[in-house]
Amino acid sequence: MSRIAYVNGFYVPQRQAAVNIEDRGYQFADGIYEVVHLYDGRFVDADRHLDRLDRSLRELRLPAPMGRAALLRVLAEVARRNRVREGLLYMQITRGVARRDHAFPNPAVPPALVVTARRIPPYPTDPAAWTGRAITYPDQRWARCDIKTVALTPNVLARQAAREAGATEAILVDAAGRVTEGAATNFWIVDAAGVLRTRALDHAILPGCTRGALIALLAEAGIALDERGFDVAEMRAAREAFLTSATSFVKPITAIDGAPVGDGTVGKVARRLFDLFARHVKGDGRNTGG
Ligand code: PDD
Repeated sequence: MSRIAYVNGFYVPQRQAAVNIEDRGYQFADGIYEVVHLYDGRFVDADRHLDRLDRSLRELRLPAPMGRAALLRVLAEVARRNRVREGLLYMQITRGVARRDHAFPNPAVPPALVVTARRIPPYPTDPAAWTGRAITYPDQRWARCDIKTVALTPNVLARQAAREAGATEAILVDAAGRVTEGAATNFWIVDAAGVLRTRALDHAILPGCTRGALIALLAEAGIALDERGFDVAEMRAAREAFLTSATSFVKPITAIDGAPVGDGTVGKVARRLFDLFARHVKGDGRNTGG
């Protein structure tokens, strides 16, 4: 079955889908995106993702291509046409097609919207079989990493370095030696004192939807979190480490730069949060959105 993409108002076979060479996403990375997890036909944390999409649009002064209800219908239709019930939906909005000029097109042109879907393997059931290794890597990104733009070259280079080192993720470290986040994930530790920590939101990291959902679950489960950043030394002394994202869920990290994290196995806290998030994904009735 050929994959179907939504491109500016049309559902087209993905192999034939194309955007104009003067699309500003192609020329300037002048656009934003979202990745949403689809579990058993439901969009996980749809409201969080669409709220963040709206925020990214506002921050970049991009017009929305359509309202939320219409967008949800397009997402559901792309999932349906691709027969994806367990997968990832990708949506991207750029400032449209115009003769190359750094400043916004004047008069404005319609924004371009592309949506694709793909299947992913069944949701992991055992955190011990869902672990990864990480490397550290310099954070070379811009000053507004809180906006989910398609300008991802530093993230691409970091992730490639991880892959070449046989690791799954690169943990980004700023010029002051403090950990920001992963190349495409948020990063958490259980520190040497046993405290669960992840960096507070600011312009240096993406406000992850998985991060936000997990924090809400922690509060309900009575698990304490300290939203306090940490440096590389604290990370190396951590008992546990894990990543979160729409594609990683809660992913335990068992080694960093070749050294084991804690005893090198999945820790108690990571296991508990993996289970908590699995229950959330598998539906307590609040994840629906299409
Ligand atoms: N990445 N930080 C960065 C830099 C990211 O790119 C992502 C998501 C996250 C986690 O956000 P969320 O929990 O909302 O997925 C944090 C997506 C999955 C991607 O680029 O494919």
